[in-house]
Amino acid sequence: MSSKISRRNFFNKTMGLSAGALFFKSIPIFGSSAKGITPIIVTSHTNQTGQMAMEAGWRILADGGSALDAIEKAANVIEVDPEDTSVGYGGLPNENGIVQLDSSIMDGKTYNAGAVACLENIKTPSSVARVVMERTDHVLMVGQGALDFARKWGFKDEDLLTEKARKIWLRWKENMNENDDWGPPDHLKNLQKKESYWEGFPEVEHHYGTTNVLAIDKNGDIAGITTTSGLSFKIPGRVGDSPIIGAGLYVDNEVGAAGATGRGEDVIKSLASYYIVLRMKDGRNPQQACEDALHMIIDKYRKVNPDFYPGEKFVAINKSGETGCATMRGNRTPAMSVRTSDGYSKYKGKVAYPDK
Ligand code: GLY
Repeated sequence: MSSKISRRNFFNKTMGLSAGALFFKSIPIFGSSAKGITPIIVTSHTNQTGQMAMEAGWRILADGGSALDAIEKAANVIEVDPEDTSVGYGGLPNENGIVQLDSSIMDGKTYNAGAVACLENIKTPSSVARVVMERTDHVLMVGQGALDFARKWGFKDEDLLTEKARKIWLRWKENMNENDDWGPPDHLKNLQKKESYWEGFPEVEHHYGTTNVLAIDKNGDIAGITTTSGLSFKIPGRVGDSPIIGAGLYVDNEVGAAGATGRGEDVIKSLASYYIVLRMKDGRNPQQACEDALHMIIDKYRKVNPDFYPGEKFVAINKSGETGCATMRGNRTPAMSVRTSDGYSKYKGKVAYPDK
């Protein structure tokens, strides 16, 4: 490409369209009639922070704001919660003790998306994902490049490793391997009660965490965010499903939106969020579509390891404001937070494969 041709001009020329033609011909009529549309915002987080996030997002929707602004505000509330070890600030680190965040955002109105992966030092990765979406011609930025990009846009570097997360990580390191040198010296090992040092600290949890936030605004426009610190103690550089459009998140303005939490590796292979939206497009309601995605994953594993039930949780909304949520099995509750003009409520979905 000649350096004199800008990226966008090159794109327009190669597509055989002048800028004028693009402007007049290809801009679709966005959204739908405001008649009969009930704004709604949901999150997979059902704790107090999830509820606070819903109130923050709802204030925007109730004031006539966009689904995009509402989901970003709500996701930020969860991301900055230092007590939450699965998302943003306070998230559990990778195996080297470094917090690396993944996040994606999708705007149904403009069929636009942005994402960041392995982002360090920035508390609100979903906001960086939004800038990637709105101020670049890219969808996904990773690692140092994503961090440099965020700094250019004024995001502040902060240490994301809270005391709580650091201690959980150290405890995990000590418990990892009897044959390494983490933990008390050999001659004291049997004399000291190993657990006494860690008394009062939370039990080590190896978890995937993550949150999804999905919303519909008064114009019927739909947007979604998935954001996470990813698999705790992951191999540095590992990227989960959360920043992969179609896997951890998908939005179709004519249909609805879906988001995933749980074992990202399964969600990437199955493109579960895209699958859920396709199922809704085929007429399944959000609850059925979430369960369909779990059945699809288990059908694959059944042929390989019939006893393997990965811990996914899916949430979805459709254009009519119906909701759905399904989990596989284990200790995950198939519930999500919902905020509408009727107030806050918890939607109870279904465990698709209950423990026997
Ligand atoms: N679902 C989050 C992750 O696997 O990273």
